[in-house]
Amino acid sequence: MIKFNPLALLPVLGFTGALAAAATPPIDDASFSCIRDMTPVRGFYVGNLLGNLDETVAVASAGTGTYPPGSVVQLVPSEAMVKLDAGASPATGDWEFFELTVTGAGSTINKRGFVDVVNKFGGNCFACHIKADPGRDMICETGHGCDPIPLTRTMIDAIQNTDPRCESVALPPEQIEALRQLQAALKAQASGP
Ligand code: HEC
Repeated sequence: MIKFNPLALLPVLGFTGALAAAATPPIDDASFSCIRDMTPVRGFYVGNLLGNLDETVAVASAGTGTYPPGSVVQLVPSEAMVKLDAGASPATGDWEFFELTVTGAGSTINKRGFVDVVNKFGGNCFACHIKADPGRDMICETGHGCDPIPLTRTMIDAIQNTDPRCESVALPPEQIEALRQLQAALKAQASGP
């Protein structure tokens, strides 16, 4: 009779761990493109840089669970969260935060990192997303513990529809109005209190 020795599994587990650590490709400007080419889930978009889209979509759809490595999550074209390999950044749940400049020519990474990346309203990505309810892997949406962002749903739709990296689409009047209000708010903020 062959006796099962659980210790014999350790090298095998160690080996798959090493493979996973080498898996996430370098993340650069080319990792990001038209937001509407990603997969929509309840108003945000997901992708996977390692081709594991099914698992990413499954976690996003469930609204609970841990996203697999390579997952890209975006609400607006200029901000992204990318899931690195397990253990890459325990403090941020292995998420790396990105602030991008997007134009018709593509994406440029302005800021990237873990606990110190801020959005264009001066808010720290991590400090806000860490408040998401446990089990949500720092995904906020609305009503799950994060402080709100100063964007209405119509503004978000309009921002997604005017991603300069995508083919242009005609905007309904309420989205044009929402963009006008957003520009006014950003201008007021830039001129300072
Ligand atoms: C003040 C809090 C706050 C800050 C700061 C903030 N976010 Fe968010 N973020 C939210 C909220 C709330 C939502 C959901 C909004 C909605 O669905 O209407 C959200 C949505 C997202 C989403 C879509 C998935 C989700 O969590 O709902 C991503 C990706 C994201 N933010 C990335 C970032 C990045 C990257 C930064 C920094 C550059 C950032 N956020 C800064 C609160 C914040």
